[in-house]
Amino acid sequence: MFARMVLFLALFVWASLGLNCSGTTTPSDGDSSSEVTSSQESPGSTQDGGSPSEGISVVSNPTYHGHIKALMEKHCNSCHKTGGMGPFPLDSLERLMPMKSAVLSAVTDKRMPPWQADNTCNDYSNDFSMPQHEIDLLSRWVKNGAPVGDPSEYQPPKDKPALQLPRVDLRVKMKEAYTPPENRVDDYRCFLIDWPLKETQFVTGFRVQPGNTETVHHLIVYMADAKDAAAYLQEDANSPGIGYNCYGGPGGGGYPGLLGAWAPGTPATVYPKGTGLRVEPGAKLVLQIHYNVTRKPVKPDLSVIELMLEKKVKQQAMIAPFVDPIWMINKKTMKLPKGQSNIPYEFSADLTTLTGGGTVTVYGAAMHMHMLGKTGTMRIQRKDGEEQCLLRIPRWDFNWQSTFLLQKPIVLNEGDKIFMQCMFDNSAQAQPTVEGKKQKPSDVFWGGGSTDEMCLSFLYITCNDADGKANNCFDF
Ligand code: HEC
Repeated sequence: MFARMVLFLALFVWASLGLNCSGTTTPSDGDSSSEVTSSQESPGSTQDGGSPSEGISVVSNPTYHGHIKALMEKHCNSCHKTGGMGPFPLDSLERLMPMKSAVLSAVTDKRMPPWQADNTCNDYSNDFSMPQHEIDLLSRWVKNGAPVGDPSEYQPPKDKPALQLPRVDLRVKMKEAYTPPENRVDDYRCFLIDWPLKETQFVTGFRVQPGNTETVHHLIVYMADAKDAAAYLQEDANSPGIGYNCYGGPGGGGYPGLLGAWAPGTPATVYPKGTGLRVEPGAKLVLQIHYNVTRKPVKPDLSVIELMLEKKVKQQAMIAPFVDPIWMINKKTMKLPKGQSNIPYEFSADLTTLTGGGTVTVYGAAMHMHMLGKTGTMRIQRKDGEEQCLLRIPRWDFNWQSTFLLQKPIVLNEGDKIFMQCMFDNSAQAQPTVEGKKQKPSDVFWGGGSTDEMCLSFLYITCNDADGKANNCFDF
């Protein structure tokens, strides 16, 4: 019973912890904030198949045209192209050649491609890491003096990681651009978007295009039901300017569902087949954006959300925040003493307490810490004590956060627990550099600011009642 209350509280606190400011009205009423599309954009797949060399005998004399070009296309060039998110293009022989040692070092050290999960923990369907045999191939190529080969040897890669959704059915954006104030480092702002569709829909894919990557630190998309919409509109009306201040949560009340989140490095996410997040007509999307202002002048932001939709799915899913509510209620209970380099915080709970003894299926997880995070681990402990690794992030990097989807979803029965551990480093070496200056360590506590810390995760789940029937995961 206690566990049920704690979890309930966690979800509730997450949903409602809003220290919202008041003000006078200026609701803005433009209505060009959404666009329904039916285009079939660049179909992409995230797995299957493999490189031309996969499973085939070792190539002793790889060439650029014969092997490396395709390998770069498959693993690197979606970001490392002109105008891409990577700092330099690697999409031609001329561009790759002078970078080949840097490329080899980044790949052997597994800094690139930026896949953060330890693959010995579990297998992920959206894994975009580079398999060892391809790392070896690249390494052999560099050691052999990077032979060019003949363009006729080129075979395009079979599959490329999808940084875009295979299809975009709805594109919504903030009603107008917002410029965060210069006099505050952290600004939490919520923006309302009218859900434009008139029938029940399920969100099956999600991608964020932040308008200004210099200031958008993270972005969470909540969905408020029609019955709660008025409270959110009031919230917006009470605050001058576009949107309203919303530290900690979207405010508004009720229980807003989560549709997805973005932090640096988050690629497009296609939710597990047969599942989706329900949105009813009349709903409001609430974009909670945390702006972190470190550079002036501050440029405006107009962020865009792309969604893939289905009218029907086999089972409704939910994105459940997993966090110790005690840390959120009393920030001092999560203290990271200055100077210490291994500070663990752990939380565990039995999710089935929320389904009245039914099962909960976990399809994937994302973890969230800030700059002092060192490692993150999520594991399952079965009722009989047996353990299973769910997610391990051996080198936490704030700049690369994403959802790791399991190849084999994990079914939790009554008595099974999920454990989440965040390890923090608050030593002098671990301090972030702000405007060229390494910060001095000080005691750090739970909080939403970028110099505070957090330890939480988001689980993508579906639920069943005790009799096996699908339910809506604590739809309250
Ligand atoms: C999802 C986008 C993305 C992909 C895929 C990607 N990179 Fe990067 N890469 C970046 C970004 C952004 C940076 C700069 C920030 C950083 O270093 O984390 C970077 C930095 C680098 C650097 C310089 C920093 C370092 O760690 O050495 C190298 C070299 C590099 N990438 C090579 C590669 C290679 C080779 C691949 C493919 C095997 C690859 N990248 C795949 C986005 C990407």
